[in-house]
Amino acid sequence: MAKTIYVLNGPNLNLLGTREPDIYGHHTLADVEKLCRDTAARFGLTAECRQTNREGELVDFIHEARDKKVAGIVINAGAYSHTSIAIHDALVGVQIPAVEVHVSNVYARERFRHQSFIAKAAFATLSGFGIEGYGLAITGLASKIGAAAKS
Ligand code: DQA
Repeated sequence: MAKTIYVLNGPNLNLLGTREPDIYGHHTLADVEKLCRDTAARFGLTAECRQTNREGELVDFIHEARDKKVAGIVINAGAYSHTSIAIHDALVGVQIPAVEVHVSNVYARERFRHQSFIAKAAFATLSGFGIEGYGLAITGLASKIGAAAKS
């Protein structure tokens, strides 16, 4: 049976495509989710994509990932990346390999974006590749969990 990975997007990422396009580009969340499903499929993985504007729901999705024996997590927690000890603790608690993604280069932006609680719980972070960062994250995650590319 194909392994499943979760792609979790946090607050305001439902606005991709219309939100500050000079920073986040013109691609929509639907484009991100298609990219994730297509990239995952190249490695024989199934990407289940979720978005929420609520911190606790992100925590619930992470717990659910453990219950469903999900093989890996790609997470863009949006602004909660910079504030949420609860999401950090959930990721550490479930012990599922996780990659943090940011569409924009948070390190080239305001100082308050330079700290990430998610980074401390993830094995890698991608920041500034636009939505392509999700594809790169899944490629790296596939390697980490031993999912080989299908020919
Ligand atoms: C973001 C960067 C965060 O600082 C911001 O709050 C977001 C999006 C990104 O994808 O670049 O909502 O996570």
